[in-house]
Amino acid sequence: MVRIAVLVSGGGTNLEALFRAQESGIIRSGRIELVIADRPAYALERAQSHGCMSMLISRRELGMKAFAEHLAAALEENRIDMVVLAGFLSILPEEAIERYEGRMINIHPSLIPSFCGKGFYGLRVHEAALERGVKVTGATVHLVNGIADGGRILMQKAVSVKPGDTPETLQRRVMEEAEWEILPLCTEMIASAIGGSDENR
Ligand code: GAR
Repeated sequence: MVRIAVLVSGGGTNLEALFRAQESGIIRSGRIELVIADRPAYALERAQSHGCMSMLISRRELGMKAFAEHLAAALEENRIDMVVLAGFLSILPEEAIERYEGRMINIHPSLIPSFCGKGFYGLRVHEAALERGVKVTGATVHLVNGIADGGRILMQKAVSVKPGDTPETLQRRVMEEAEWEILPLCTEMIASAIGGSDENR
C-alpha cells in the first residue's frame, strides 16, 4: 500500500473528497497516513475526524528553510511514498520537490496554463477568470516540479461560467464539478503506478 501524505492550508474540502474516495474504494492503491498544514487550518480537524495523523508545521513561525526541513523529516519518519497538495498555498523549495519527483501532485482551480503561477491561488484565480470574461474554466491536476503550476498535466475538467457568477459561486462550482472528482482519480492513478513499480523492484 502506497503511503500518502496530504498537504493543506485551508478548509480542506479537497482533503475531505480524498477521504471519501478512500472510503468508497476509488483510492485503493494507497492510504492517507498523514495530513500536514503549513498554517492553522480547518483541514486539520477534518483529518482528526477521519482518525488520520495530522500536524501543523507553521511556515510563518519557522521561515521557509526550517519549514522545509521539518516537512522533509516528517515525510521521512512516516515513510511517505507520495504527496498530494490539496489546497496547499506555500511554494515549496526545489529540494522538497526533487525528492518526490513524479510522486507529488497538485490541484489548481483553473485550466492551466490560464490563471496559474505565482499569485494565482484560491479565490484570486476565480476573480481573475471572471474579470477576463472567460466562459469556460475548470480545474487541473498536475505533477509538481520547480515551476509554480508548471509540471506535466495529468487531468483537467472544464466547468461553465454562468451569468451572474461571483468568485464564490464559481469557486464552489469548480470544486463540486471538477476538483473533488479529478484529485481522487489522479491520486489513485499515481498511487497505482508507484505501487506497481515497487512490486517490480
Ligand atoms: C481549492 O480550490 C484549490 O484548488 C485551491 O485552493 C482551494 C482549497 O480549498 N488551490 C490553489 O489555488 C493552489 N494554487 P480546500 O482547502 O477546501 O480544498
